[in-house]
Amino acid sequence: MLSEKMVKALNDQVRDELYSEYYYLAMSAWCEENDLPGMAAFMALKSSEERTHAMKLYHYILDRGGRVVLQAIAQPPSDFKSHCHIFESMLEHEKLVTGLIHNLYGLALEEKDYATQVMLQWFIEEQVEEEKEATELIQQCKMIGDSESALFLFDQKLGSTSPGEETAAN
Ligand SMILES: [Fe+2]
Ligand SMILES: [Fe+2]
Repeated sequence: MLSEKMVKALNDQVRDELYSEYYYLAMSAWCEENDLPGMAAFMALKSSEERTHAMKLYHYILDRGGRVVLQAIAQPPSDFKSHCHIFESMLEHEKLVTGLIHNLYGLALEEKDYATQVMLQWFIEEQVEEEKEATELIQQCKMIGDSESALFLFDQKLGSTSPGEETAAN
């Protein structure tokens, strides 16, 4: 049985993962509006990946006899300065999420909740990948600079890339 404190913290994380889904969907919409269909497809995949994170926690709460209480999701930004700004915002957001996951793990340690510690290990590893991926995309953006032809090729490449694939290949 999960403690009340743990259930509350896990429900907060469900909300935060759903916010990530929403945030990345907003980025995907901006990309499509700004003639970057490949990047839009990539961000849409990132968005649905965040939903699977939320659902992992959702099912975990239920499996442990807790109650899922869905919360309001904040409105994400809808305007971004550039494609590079999107990846910079993504990295900033992933760092914030890493902090949240670490806080959750800290609580599970405090509560001597061993099952939750094991479950959260997946998320801790995932965050390492998420930050690495965003960092690499920012680097690639910097290499493109003002070259429209390079941006065109980059967009095409991203359109045929699944999230995580970039980093997995390295
Ligand atoms: Fe996530
Ligand atoms: Fe993420």
